[in-house]
Amino acid sequence: MALAIELRGVTKRFLTPSGGVYVALHDLDLAVEPGEFCAVVGPTGCGKSTTLALISGLEPASEGEVDVFGKPVRGIADGIGFVFQNDAVFPWKTVLENVAAGPRYHGATNREARAAARDWIARVGLAGFEDRYPYQLSGGMRKRVALAQSLINGPRILLMDEPFSALDVQTRSLMENELLSLWSSTSASVVFVDPATSPRSDSNLDSPRSTRRSGRTFATRSS
Ligand SMILES: Nc1ncnc2c1ncn2[C@@H]1O[C@H](COP(=O)(O)OP(=O)(O)OP(=O)(O)O)[C@@H](O)[C@H]1O
Ligand SMILES: [Mg+2]
Repeated sequence: MALAIELRGVTKRFLTPSGGVYVALHDLDLAVEPGEFCAVVGPTGCGKSTTLALISGLEPASEGEVDVFGKPVRGIADGIGFVFQNDAVFPWKTVLENVAAGPRYHGATNREARAAARDWIARVGLAGFEDRYPYQLSGGMRKRVALAQSLINGPRILLMDEPFSALDVQTRSLMENELLSLWSSTSASVVFVDPATSPRSDSNLDSPRSTRRSGRTFATRSS
């Protein structure tokens, strides 16, 4: 079976405002199996968010290949969910409307979308909060809404860019455990960026490194 995500020899260069060229990623290899949970760690500026942008198709690679399920990424790919560091929920919509937005966008009827949304709201532990607006929720609760908002679309790949970094240590740990249990009930591949999981020995890395929940840890860096 094709890998869910494969980066081969990927380099990403950005133009700087002064007209120079900045190499954000250099010759990066990364392979994520279908259904695998892959954590990407590394210090600030090493290219973690850039890696997610390449996988999602938000940015093209300057060199190398980025494949999703065996096909080269050309533009924004289908079946990919993205959970950002900042809250990306609609502030003017209730929890129910926020979570139902994806299915509605994909053509579900209002009734179908709301039924699916109620199910996901319960699965992320927010039953009873369907009619609240985001400002009436805690930071951790808003993250649950964002998770439900992504998972309801049944993504084959879920990209998460430091989704819990604004939360306190206890809530973050709780959310990480809940994410793992939600993930294990789906078949999604997850790429999870979190500098907090970076081992101290990685502090001199100049390129992202990935670790897998299966117990194997491997480096994908080349520099
Ligand atoms: N659009 C852009 N134009 C120019 N440079 C960019 C652009 N996007 C990112 N960069 C640069 O590429 C490097 C990698 O950025 P990236 O956002 O991937 O880092 P990161 O590992 O996610 O860092 P952090 O942990 O702080 O989020 C940084 O030096 C950044 O300044
Ligand atoms: Mg980042």
